[in-house]
Amino acid sequence: MKYPISVELVEKSRISEVDFSNLVFGRNISDHMFVADYIDGEWTDCRIVPFGPMLMSPAIMALHYGQAIFEGMKANKDAKTGVPLLFRPEMHIERINRSAVRMAMQPIPDEIFMNALNYLLDIDRAWIPESEGSALYIRPHMFAIDATLGVKASDNYRFVIMTSPVGPYYPKPIRLLVSEKYVRAFPGGVGFAKAAGNYGATLAPAAQAKEKGFDQILWLDGIEFKYLQECGTMNIMCVIGDTVVTPNLTDTILAGITRDSILHLIRDIGLKIEERPISIHEVIEANKSGELKEMFGTGTAAVLSHVSEFSYKDEIYTLPPLEGRKVGPMIKKVLEDYKKGIQPDKFNWLIPVKKTILITSHK
Ligand code: COI
Repeated sequence: MKYPISVELVEKSRISEVDFSNLVFGRNISDHMFVADYIDGEWTDCRIVPFGPMLMSPAIMALHYGQAIFEGMKANKDAKTGVPLLFRPEMHIERINRSAVRMAMQPIPDEIFMNALNYLLDIDRAWIPESEGSALYIRPHMFAIDATLGVKASDNYRFVIMTSPVGPYYPKPIRLLVSEKYVRAFPGGVGFAKAAGNYGATLAPAAQAKEKGFDQILWLDGIEFKYLQECGTMNIMCVIGDTVVTPNLTDTILAGITRDSILHLIRDIGLKIEERPISIHEVIEANKSGELKEMFGTGTAAVLSHVSEFSYKDEIYTLPPLEGRKVGPMIKKVLEDYKKGIQPDKFNWLIPVKKTILITSHK
C-alpha cells in the first residue's frame, strides 16, 4: 500500500444515541472519520480516528478564500447478504478531482479515496441504516489549511471523510419558486464544481423562497433568465409527453451522479430522453396544454424528489397529482432497489466493502 492507513477506534460507540426510526438528514455523524493531509507536496498521514473537533487556526485559507470542496455519496447494505455496497464511488473521485482542479486544490489519489471508504465503512458498518429510503450518507471533503492571509492557492490541504445515517431528504413533494433575481452559477464560473461557496451563495435566496412558502428555488441561467438549470441542490428533469427532458450539462450545472444513473435507468427501460436547453416558457406551455406530466429533482441526498408546483412571475403552475405519475416513482424505486443489490448490477455500479486488516491501532 503506497498510502497506509492507521486506525484509532472509539472507546465507546455513540450508536445507541441514534434514533434509527427518525433519521434527520445530517444530524448524526458516525463514530469514525478518515483524515489525510497534503503537506510539503505529498499526501500523508492517512488515518481513521474517532469523529470529533479538529484544532484549526482561524487564518486557514479555506475560511477566507473559499478553497473548500465536497462530495455527497451513499452506501446501503446488500438486502440479501448485509455486505455494505458503495454506489459508483469512482464517479465521485472523478468529480471531487474536477472540483479540486477548478479550485486550484490538490487532487486526491484514487487509492486513498477508495481505501478510506473501504476502511471507514467496514469499521462503521453498523451505522448503515436498513429502513426504506434510508442510507449511509458519505461526505468526503477537502479544504485549504495554510494559515496565511495572502490571496493565493494554499500549499497544504486536509481531506476528510465522515458518514451519517440518513432517511429521506424531502418527506413530501416540493414547491419551487423560479428565481428571476438570483442565479446559482455563471458561465466560466464554478457551477459545475462541488465547491462549498456554491451552496453558501444559495442560502439567502432559499430562505426568501421559504418565507414565501416554497421549498426550493428553480434556478434559471444568468444571461437570459430563461433556461432551467437546477432546483435547490438537485438536477431537474421534466416529463413532457412521453419524453424525459433535462438540461444538458454545461459549466453552470453540476454533473449529478444520480442524474447520470437515472438517465441510464430511463434509457434502459426504453423511454425517450432529451438532454437540451429547456426554457421556462416551454415548461409553462407544456403545463397549460397538459403535456407536462411530471417534474422532479435528482440528487444524492434526495435521490428523486417530486415537484408538486412551481411559481413564475407570481403565477402558480400545478403539476398532475403524484398518484397518476409513472416515470418518477418507478425510477426512484428501481434506483433504490439497485443500490441494495435487489436488482442485478447490470451497469457494475456497486462496489462491495471488503473486510479490512487493521494496520495499527493506537488505543
Ligand atoms: C447531494 O445531493 O449530495 C447534495 O449535494 C445535497 C447536499 C448539499 C445536502
